[in-house]
Amino acid sequence: MQKLKSMNPKLINGRLLSEQILTNIKTYVSNLIARPPCLAVVLVGEDPASHIYVRNKKYACAKVGFRSLEYKLSSEIDQDELIELINQLNANDDVDGILVQLPLPKHLDSKIIINTILPNKDVDGFHKYNVGALAVNQPNLCPCTPHGIIYMLDSLKINYHGKHAVIVGASNIVGRPMALELLNRGATVTVCNSKTVNLAKKCREADILVAAIGKPRYITVDYIKPQSIVIDVGINRLSDDVLCGDVDFENVIDLVSYITPVPNGVGPMTIAMLMENTLHCYKLKNRI
Ligand code: GUN
Repeated sequence: MQKLKSMNPKLINGRLLSEQILTNIKTYVSNLIARPPCLAVVLVGEDPASHIYVRNKKYACAKVGFRSLEYKLSSEIDQDELIELINQLNANDDVDGILVQLPLPKHLDSKIIINTILPNKDVDGFHKYNVGALAVNQPNLCPCTPHGIIYMLDSLKINYHGKHAVIVGASNIVGRPMALELLNRGATVTVCNSKTVNLAKKCREADILVAAIGKPRYITVDYIKPQSIVIDVGINRLSDDVLCGDVDFENVIDLVSYITPVPNGVGPMTIAMLMENTLHCYKLKNRI
């Protein structure tokens, strides 16, 4: 299995691509005369997965030479206090990027919180200004996971015109911005969800299939057009602690031209794009 995942030429190696991006950023930062970029990460509550994601984001900052500030807050924090912290970070000239890890506890309104972040410090690209900018093909800061997927697709030198992309999942973090990114490049785009009627048939029309539904191995061979490109955004932990994606990788790989593995596919690209976005915020601020 591990051998299959490391040697097969059909694999899009997100680990390798992300390492190249991080190396380039590290070189850029090491040549800066001014202070390095700084990312502030806000984590509310005790969600174990969120703690792991935030730890990985901090590691990536250290790896490329960014400063990172971490704000670990009680799940009891009230909305006004959190808004106050974000306003302070907005006003802090030593902070280039701000990330509030999602999901937030239920009593907090994540839309209000995200829209409090200054658009030019919004490293996640979730602020409505940045989503709107992407929607009218004037991108500023783009959500990291879809942008990382575009980076992977571009590495294959694919021509988007005339290609049918089908996205399964319509979240603000992945599905919607993914649709906009692909539309902006000239693809024909269909956005589905798990309730879509005849989902397998729609997926079988996809030259590029992006699976982001959060259901382990849900996308089986019945959903795949031969020779298509399959991007698996899912990270699901099975009862035996094994990680798997939303795609039935072992069986689907025989049919496709390219596929992303889990792990070492989309995941590392998301973090690399977060570092790119932080650098973008730094450049915006310093007018570089
Ligand atoms: N939760 C899951 N993915 C993400 C992400 O990309 N950014 C933030 N802020 N929270 C998340």
